[in-house]
Amino acid sequence: MAEGIDKLAFYTPGLALDMVELAKARGDEPDKYTIGIGQSVQSVVPNYEDVVTMGVNAAKKILTADDIAAIDMLIFATESGVDNSKSAAVFAQKLLGLSPYIRTIEMKQACYAGTFGLMQAKDYVNVHPDKKVLVIAADIARYGLKTAGEVTQGAGAIAMVVSANPAIAEIEDDSVYMSQDVPDFWRPVASTTALVDGHLSTDIYKEMFLTLWTRYTEQTKLSLPDFAGFAFHLPYTKMGKKALDQILDQATPEQQQFLQEQLAASQVYNRQVGNLYTGSVYLALLSLLQKGQIAAGQRLAVFSYGSGAEAELFSLKVQENFQSAIASQDVDGMLADRRQLSVSEYEDVFNSQLFDYQVDVTTAGPENTGLCQFVGWQNGHRQYKMS
Ligand code: CAA
Repeated sequence: MAEGIDKLAFYTPGLALDMVELAKARGDEPDKYTIGIGQSVQSVVPNYEDVVTMGVNAAKKILTADDIAAIDMLIFATESGVDNSKSAAVFAQKLLGLSPYIRTIEMKQACYAGTFGLMQAKDYVNVHPDKKVLVIAADIARYGLKTAGEVTQGAGAIAMVVSANPAIAEIEDDSVYMSQDVPDFWRPVASTTALVDGHLSTDIYKEMFLTLWTRYTEQTKLSLPDFAGFAFHLPYTKMGKKALDQILDQATPEQQQFLQEQLAASQVYNRQVGNLYTGSVYLALLSLLQKGQIAAGQRLAVFSYGSGAEAELFSLKVQENFQSAIASQDVDGMLADRRQLSVSEYEDVFNSQLFDYQVDVTTAGPENTGLCQFVGWQNGHRQYKMS
């Protein structure tokens, strides 16, 4: 029986910052940001959004009454959760109107946890083919003002419904994965921004991809020409190129050119959003499916990487009706509708996050692009509103 991604949706907040403006303000060459790192715009998170609102806003785009009746488990992957004890999945369950008789859990391993959730969902559906699993991968990439990582910030959420006989892509039984204790990127419990050894993180990402690609091709006997494209975790779009360049010589010049064009297609959305940690690789997948030259029956490779570090490489088989299944996702429209901020407006928004749970506040932003909003703290409890 085939299990896989039946529905796929993306949400990002309604504020944006141009990377040319940021480069100028930081005294850097704009080409370093737009070409060297490969980011054009980044989404900025207003203080009435967090991973719960973004995840709910993504899931709301795809869930039907039939899905809600069939969902037996909600897996919420994030490394920017809102509570050290209570899972973001419990908030999302209520806000989405899911049954109380389901399992809910939050998962963390840097940017990798969404893939762990997807694989758990696949296995669960294999055993319970009449059930569905909702996987949400939502994050805020937050390095800090005037840091080297600032250009690679971003935010957003992916929601995926995993089912038997999926409409978009079947997850093949061919995963290879690895874990290795590495100090490349981390966020101590008391810190609201990530700490990172950026160059080490890039090296480990490349190394793990090459190691897993070699293992994958040995185990499956597949080779580069068997793939119609790659969806990479994209902390910044150049990262995908750095990884793919390592293996391109395993294909003919025509195949190389095709795979590079497909890589460019997979980078379109991430280039305009920035990093969304757990969701980034699935935003790249959505971009590849919508902007690439993809046909039903083709095989796509997915490389998921989470610092610290854990990585997984597997393939998807594109399904017959994948185009109609993703047709409702107007990502271009959502990105174009974001309000562009000046650098000083962005800095104000960045500093306005409502971290202090000891202060009761209620806020509501003007750019309520999603249906779900965080409206502040009451007696230390986070309050959400659905409109
Ligand atoms: N024109 C064109 N290109 C230029 C340029 C110019 N004027 N000036 C510089 N460049 C190029 C450089 O040559 C370099 O290219 P290569 O990487 O191909 O050599 C690129 O721009 C970046 O330059 P630097 O390496 O000097 O940039 P930096 O030291 O400021 O750091 C960074 C860049 C490491 C990505 C940093 O932004 C960072 O730490 N980001 C956060 C960490 C991260 O995203 N790591 C990725 C792997 S970890 C992961 O995947 C998990 C996760 O999500 C975090």
